[in-house]
Amino acid sequence: MDVIICKTSADAEKLTARMIADAINAKPEFKLGLATGATMENVYAELSRLNQAGEVDFSQVRSWNLDEYAGLAPEHDQSYRYYMNKHLFNNVNIDIRNTHLPDGLAEDEEAEAARYDESIDEAGGIDLWLVGIGKSGHVGFNDPGTSFASRTHVAYLNNTTYEQNKIYFNPPESMPRRAYTAGVGTVLDAKKVLQLITGERKAAIAAAAIEGPMTAMISSSALQLHPDTVIILDEAAAADLKLKDFYKEVFENDPKWAKYQNA
Ligand code: PGA
Repeated sequence: MDVIICKTSADAEKLTARMIADAINAKPEFKLGLATGATMENVYAELSRLNQAGEVDFSQVRSWNLDEYAGLAPEHDQSYRYYMNKHLFNNVNIDIRNTHLPDGLAEDEEAEAARYDESIDEAGGIDLWLVGIGKSGHVGFNDPGTSFASRTHVAYLNNTTYEQNKIYFNPPESMPRRAYTAGVGTVLDAKKVLQLITGERKAAIAAAAIEGPMTAMISSSALQLHPDTVIILDEAAAADLKLKDFYKEVFENDPKWAKYQNA
């Protein structure tokens, strides 16, 4: 795992967007995995800016999101389809038909979940999956106890996740308690995983996920198994990392990061 610590959340968001843009520029028919949540809003704003400035082209990019609430229509302002259209898809030259999220209104949930995994496989797999981390340690909606081998499925959300996300709903209790999520195994199949973690409220779970033992109690810890994971944090989220100084030394000195060192 490569761990990069940026001074501020703005620096971390910009670096994340730049790495995604560089990856797309290197392979225009890019298969991009995406995530939602407060953490990603400025990443999408920066990617939108880069696209509008002609620095990255989404015209051949295909995307798959991690998750979607079961029971929410795409037009619902808390659906992840709505979030993605608002924060990224409407602002860049991606073909909306090439953007994929599970259908929250599908009648047959198992068939919808299987269809989602198949659509990724048929496309040849995800080149890079952008993920965050929840306070429960989840990637996607893979709350504690989810198998590292899980595929896309509908998950019942635990209390930590419910409390974290219900603040966005009006009334809060209208938040669906179940959601489609790509499985931990689905994410591990991506060729590369790019995780962004910002803010003091994520410091304890970031340290547990990155430096603690791998456990299904923290699905993000499964990324320790992935051969090409880059984790970008700001100083606040990195506060509890034991190897903090070492990660900084590597980033500042290893020639493989030369391109990004003085960004
Ligand atoms: P957040 O959510 O970016 O809103 O903190 C991340 C997550 O729950 O995975």
